[in-house]
Amino acid sequence: MKKLSDNDPETKSRDLVAENLAQLKAIFPELVTEGKGGVTVNLDVLKQLVGDQTVTDVEEKYGLNWHGKRRARQLALTPSTGTLRPCKKGSVDWDTTQNLMIEGDNLEVLKLLQKSYAGKVKLIYIDPPYNTGKDFVYPDNFQDNIKNYLELTGQVEGGQKISSNTEASGRFHANWLNMMYPRLKLARDLLSPEGLIVIHIDEHELHSLVIILREIFGEENELGVGVWDKRNPKGDARGLAYQHESIVMVARNADILFEQAPLKRPKRNAQRMLDYTQEALRTAKSTREAAKQYRNWLKAQDGLSGGEAMYDRISADGRVYRLVSMAWPNKKRAPDEYFRPLIHPKTRRPCPIPERGWRNPPETMQDLLRRGLIEFGPDENTQPQRIYFLDENMYENVPSIIPFGGSDDALLKELAIPFDQPKPMELVASLIGCCTKEQDVVMDFFAGSGTTGHAVMTQNAVDGGNRRYILVQLPEPLDPENKEQKTAAAFCDSLEEPRNLAEITKERLRRAAKAVQKDSPKFKGDLGFRVFRLDISNIRAWNPNRDNLKQTLTDHMEHILPDRTEADILCELLLKLGLDLCVPIEKRQIARKEVHAIGGGVLIACLAEKLSRKEVELLAQGIADWHKALTPGGDTTCVFRDSAFTDDVVKTNLTAILEQNGIRNIRSL
Ligand SMILES: C[S@@+](CC[C@H](N)C(=O)[O-])C[C@H]1O[C@@H](n2cnc3c(N)ncnc32)[C@H](O)[C@@H]1O
Repeated sequence: MKKLSDNDPETKSRDLVAENLAQLKAIFPELVTEGKGGVTVNLDVLKQLVGDQTVTDVEEKYGLNWHGKRRARQLALTPSTGTLRPCKKGSVDWDTTQNLMIEGDNLEVLKLLQKSYAGKVKLIYIDPPYNTGKDFVYPDNFQDNIKNYLELTGQVEGGQKISSNTEASGRFHANWLNMMYPRLKLARDLLSPEGLIVIHIDEHELHSLVIILREIFGEENELGVGVWDKRNPKGDARGLAYQHESIVMVARNADILFEQAPLKRPKRNAQRMLDYTQEALRTAKSTREAAKQYRNWLKAQDGLSGGEAMYDRISADGRVYRLVSMAWPNKKRAPDEYFRPLIHPKTRRPCPIPERGWRNPPETMQDLLRRGLIEFGPDENTQPQRIYFLDENMYENVPSIIPFGGSDDALLKELAIPFDQPKPMELVASLIGCCTKEQDVVMDFFAGSGTTGHAVMTQNAVDGGNRRYILVQLPEPLDPENKEQKTAAAFCDSLEEPRNLAEITKERLRRAAKAVQKDSPKFKGDLGFRVFRLDISNIRAWNPNRDNLKQTLTDHMEHILPDRTEADILCELLLKLGLDLCVPIEKRQIARKEVHAIGGGVLIACLAEKLSRKEVELLAQGIADWHKALTPGGDTTCVFRDSAFTDDVVKTNLTAILEQNGIRNIRSL
């Protein structure tokens, strides 16, 4: 029996407007769109449909428009007023790790990471909410997004409840696009010149996503839309029963990507083929017999790709190879010089030339001949072919269809992590393998249960890589009263952690690290991560209380918020100066004050709360000596707490000594 709630249309009186809209939509589907107040009628389209000529071409721009697009674009440009606060608790191997797990709304986090990571991320791998009508789509707030974030995640009083983006909202697609658009814009700037973004999506928003990606990245940078064949059609289909999801790939700059790091994957069976050949050569009487044995074995193998099966020969020196035609590849005729015949080495007669000429100019053909990379037939009647050795071609292009059935439910069960529908870790790891090299940075700002982090560790263990991951996950509250969130909420209780999704991400990463170590005991790579949390800046915003200005001014004598630690401030400095959040930080006592040298002396900070005339000379000289010993690569910035100076003379003295010693960027907070 269906239980009616007060939201249910059945408990409401007739909605005439909705009915009219439905009728209009039935006749002219293109008329009804999403506007400021929800569903609206596009009057320009109506005018056109009834023959009004007042609409001009100016309005007919190609592209995707929706309510809020201008603001969404602007939102990406508005600087964040937040900071990231380090949380040693919950981190693993804080002192040595290069991986990051950031709790927060990814829009703010993407903004905060711009200075430190712009142009440094090789792969952004995301699996955003698909907008199925059941998932939460983050509502950004143009006025004060950090306050909005703290409210939504229940970190301050009076927050709005997180709710799903349902079709009934009237701005179903617009909400999703408004959420995605600024994030994708910011994501692009983090990518390295040869970087790329990989996005999982299903039929709900695939088409919109492709259009906004074209707008943000440029059509020329599309790498394609892969089909992830899940081998299991959806049971609740109203049309075609989808059994695939899409994986959209776009490069920051496709030309640079192709030049420097083309998308390739290892040929799955190549090593096995080489191993078999070695064994056959060892046991057979001759290379000829080994080649025959190898060909028979190859024919009996299941699951070889078309490309692999072509490597069916063994050369005189025992290498597996295939032959490829050297004919001019397209329909036009090759230039005249591409018709020079090749002479058969035994008969000394010219061999047949392909109808449209050779694929390569004569110099290249001669070079291939010299290098023994052309195979001739028994006599001049066979057209010569190009030799490709398997051991030099162990990689292949990534095909657009990715068959991968099954789910990771069992894996998460093994790790005892409660999270519904995680992406298959193996699939993610194999794509990471195709898209990155061993030292690359991989980012996922819709981290969910942390599959991407797990996959980075797994791939590193497979190929001995040292890839780093940066994950961002909203501390989305988990409600123990909600049927779907109950188990996850109880799980957080069992960990004695707050009830939110970011806690699940962290615990998965901790457990995944142990599992990777267990499976690959020899792996010595990075299995830790540093946790950071989004919060309002450590530096007090000027927000005067008009009724008590005196108090406001007193409060502002100290610019730093009272609950913030030195570590918080140092972290904000890293972000503001564009340093890596995992940069090494050294600490020393100078004139009985704690001084930090960050990134080998690029930043030196003393955040002591009091600096007197007596102490300052010794401190400044000590800093100058340390700076000299560190010999940092670039300019050094030196930072102090503004309220620490007992008077202006102290400040002037300190500045003078540091400047005399070559430190010119001196700042106070
Ligand atoms: C589809 S899930 C990702 C699942 C993940 N690929 C996995 O395998 O576990 C999307 C995730 O993005 C998170 N999310 C949604 N909006 C976010 C935002 N504004 N900032 C950060 N995370 C967000 C959701 O909490 C959810 O966990």
